Amino acid sequence: MIKSWEITCFHEVDQPESMRIFISGIAGFLGSHLAEHFLKDGHEVVGCDTLLGGELINVPTEAEFHQYDISRHDSMLKITKGCDVVYHAAATAYEGLSVFSPHLIVENIVTGSTSLFSAAIANGVRRIIFCSSMARYGTNEVPFKESYLPKPQDPYGIAKLSAENILRNLCEIHNVEYVIAVPHNIIGPRQKYDDPYRNVASIMINMMLQGRQPIIYGDGGQKRCFSFVDDDIYCLKEMVYRDNVLGEIINIGPDEDFISINTLAETLAELLNFDLKPVYVTGRPQEVQLATCSADKARQLLGYQTKTTLKEGLQAMIDYIKTNGTRKFRYHLDLEIISDKTPKTWTNKMF
Ligand SMILES: NC(=O)c1ccc[n+]([C@@H]2O[C@H](COP(=O)([O-])OP(=O)(O)OC[C@H]3O[C@@H](n4cnc5c(N)ncnc54)[C@H](O)[C@@H]3O)[C@@H](O)[C@H]2O)c1
Repeated sequence: MIKSWEITCFHEVDQPESMRIFISGIAGFLGSHLAEHFLKDGHEVVGCDTLLGGELINVPTEAEFHQYDISRHDSMLKITKGCDVVYHAAATAYEGLSVFSPHLIVENIVTGSTSLFSAAIANGVRRIIFCSSMARYGTNEVPFKESYLPKPQDPYGIAKLSAENILRNLCEIHNVEYVIAVPHNIIGPRQKYDDPYRNVASIMINMMLQGRQPIIYGDGGQKRCFSFVDDDIYCLKEMVYRDNVLGEIINIGPDEDFISINTLAETLAELLNFDLKPVYVTGRPQEVQLATCSADKARQLLGYQTKTTLKEGLQAMIDYIKTNGTRKFRYHLDLEIISDKTPKTWTNKMF
């Protein structure tokens, strides 16, 4: 059966009139890049962030910033008032950790998202865009297609899928436009590199620049597709402007260069001229071995193109970390479950 999006042709969309756009997680990696781009396009931007995983310095000065938690429904009601669009990028985006700190991750994603969706809809917001995760696909065959039945393997993926379902349900009942973006393995400046719980490429660069060997979970054969933020931000932004994306789930990122974590470490070592002897530790429970998404739908609906090579993207990350200086890793989140399955990298603070 031909799905409606398969016969939609990509065409340029006129620049829309100025809007007031709310971005949750505006001090984070994607949220701050989105804010910068929407401001450049002439929109008003307002956002909130708890600064749990982001930094104030990332928030563009022209944006209105509130240090609020999305779970605070009264605060969300106040700051989404008068907004045309809500871009929901805030999350405790810690897939591996979610098996050991499920309460922290699930409460943040499910309760927090529901609080923001409810406030936005009550305030008459026209469109809500939700950043989900490829963790929603779990152990499906690769490349993951949007049409697949989700099979999340951990509380993070289950929580993201639950938030998607709540969004779809509320938007259909209350006639609000919505889009579900599924970004994956994005790298680039402003990504946190002192966080021991996520962002494998940034962690490796931070360690190698300190002259330390990278740590690899399992045998390093896990495969992923990394993409540079500039290539993805265009599509993420277009989800606000286009009408051919309404009600759709769309993977955002490339399907080329499907590489193993070992190859990632080797590529970084080559770029950094580093004598690589990785430290291998026990694999993490529930880590999906092969995870990559099909970009067909993004190409079709949003004109997605990979313009930056993997090496160029990694080099931009290296330059960013060099400019900002290497950092000690901060173990800023509590482990709720400590057992013989909990990675020693966290219990023994090995990073
Ligand atoms: N970057 C990727 O490759 C990727 C991949 C899959 C999914 N995503 C999703 O995209 C979104 C953005 O990811 P990112 O890489 O920019 O992450 P990020 O951690 O850099 O940004 C998320 C921001 O949300 C903030 N935040 C967390 N909980 C909050 C709360 N309760 N209230 C207010 N602010 C809160 C954090 O402080 C952080 O600044 C997330 O929803 C993530 O799950 C990203």
